[in-house]
Amino acid sequence: MIIVIDGPAGSGKSTTAKAVADKLQIEYLDSGALYRAVTLIYLEANRDSETFFRLLDQKKITFYYIDSQFHVCIDGASVTDQIRTPEVANLVSKVAAMPKVRTFVNELMRDAVTDGIYIAEGRDLGTAVFPDAKLKFYMDADLSERARRRYNELKKDNPGLTYREVKLNIAERDRQDTSRDKDPLIQSKDALSIDTTDLTFEQQVDRICLTINEQLLN
Ligand code: CDP
Ligand code: CDP
Repeated sequence: MIIVIDGPAGSGKSTTAKAVADKLQIEYLDSGALYRAVTLIYLEANRDSETFFRLLDQKKITFYYIDSQFHVCIDGASVTDQIRTPEVANLVSKVAAMPKVRTFVNELMRDAVTDGIYIAEGRDLGTAVFPDAKLKFYMDADLSERARRRYNELKKDNPGLTYREVKLNIAERDRQDTSRDKDPLIQSKDALSIDTTDLTFEQQVDRICLTINEQLLN
């Protein structure tokens, strides 16, 4: 059984989905982390398409969720921290727009789902990757609020980073993610919409847990 959350950067998908997974003791999948890992391979290929697709064929991306952290490895070496750098954030939407990359990540995601209950988050999970998901949520929040949240998360490890840079990155990713040809970010018609701008984190976790309990687990 699969539950999906889609929405733009900073709307609260990852932290909320992880809290829900921990509360309900279900599995968690972060598709954005996989696009970020693929972006590292693109950087390793010096942004050369031919080298990139050759490396993508050769390398093995693995991932697992443990202790509230989604870990990603390339050929067995952890890239969990590396995928969160501003360099990756600035490039990932360009890489994610390549149709072959989307097919590659979609296969990784679908292969990861075996027995059990999963909550997965991303941009196109309800529309393209898992259109038959049992329950779909679409999370959103005002751009300024999303940028403020992301800036607060990043500033400790990136002392030179400004709020303005973070806001520009998020606005540009929104633009690229909603305008790409293959599987753009769009609310699935059957998704429940949650605007988190004025919600507390606890409120949005409770709202999702309640809906899952009411609609799926009873
Ligand atoms: O955590 P944040 O919302 O900043 O981004 P993410 O979920 O890690 O996703 C990074 C990028 O991967 C997004 O901006 C999209 O370009 C891409 N992505 C996508 O195209 N489709 C998905 N299902 C998930 C992410
Ligand atoms: O995955 P996505 O990019 O949608 O967002 P995230 O990585 O979960 O980041 C959202 C950040 O905003 C986290 O630091 C949350 O603790 C914080 N936050 C939230 O998600 N919801 C609120 N109502 C308030 C803060």
